[in-house]
Amino acid sequence: MTILKTSVAKKVAMALSGLFLVIFVLLHLAINLTLIYPGKEAFDAAVEFMATNPFIQLMQPILFLTFIFHIGMGIYLEWTNRSKRSVKYVNNNPGVASTWASRNMIWTGLFVLLFLIIHLFNYFVPFKTQEVPDHYALVIRLFKNPYYTLLYVIAFLALGRHLSHGFQSAFQSLGTPREKCNKALVITGKIIAFIVAFGFSAIAIYFYFN
Ligand code: HEM
Repeated sequence: MTILKTSVAKKVAMALSGLFLVIFVLLHLAINLTLIYPGKEAFDAAVEFMATNPFIQLMQPILFLTFIFHIGMGIYLEWTNRSKRSVKYVNNNPGVASTWASRNMIWTGLFVLLFLIIHLFNYFVPFKTQEVPDHYALVIRLFKNPYYTLLYVIAFLALGRHLSHGFQSAFQSLGTPREKCNKALVITGKIIAFIVAFGFSAIAIYFYFN
């Protein structure tokens, strides 16, 4: 696409896709929290709403394409950044200039991708293709599997690290002046990252033990 030819346009598109995915993840967490409170009826009703509401139906392919775009562009940007990084320093101490999360966006992202593929097959495909009488029961059954819950928790810790850098990075890509909002954005990003990592993991661990 010609509109994505400049590197600024690519960064802006990456930032917008990332922020769109953040909104999706937060909505998803709000729905998952109904598993614990108020419980089964509310969760089943929320799933029913998501499966039948025309606006949500319209958003589903947009969400899917956003994921594909974000992943493809993430891999492309990482690839081009690596090939440009030809200068190597003898006393290279990467921790001084950048954070672990910022240097490992591709790895945290790829781990989330691995989880997404497994999650799609375990959860979304049965929802779409089989007559699942009880959505709640399907979720709880998955959380009772220790391997699934372990992978789930690690994936959301990875997503937390991804967002602890990604959220503020997205605003920088969109041109937010560094000195003005940087501190507030860094703190907001870390709070969102913590809510996502802790929220999803806590739900899985809760159902594993209860
Ligand atoms: C729900 C899942 C995800 C969310 C919420 C998310 C969110 C974000 C956000 C907000 C950014 C910052 C964009 C910017 O710097 O302008 C970002 C960057 C990035 N994401 Fe994701 N992401 C997700 C999944 C993935 C996946 C599956 C990959 C797989 C490759 C990935 C790879 C990357 C990479 C490599 C960057 C850094 C791009 C760069 O600035 O050079 N992300 N992500």
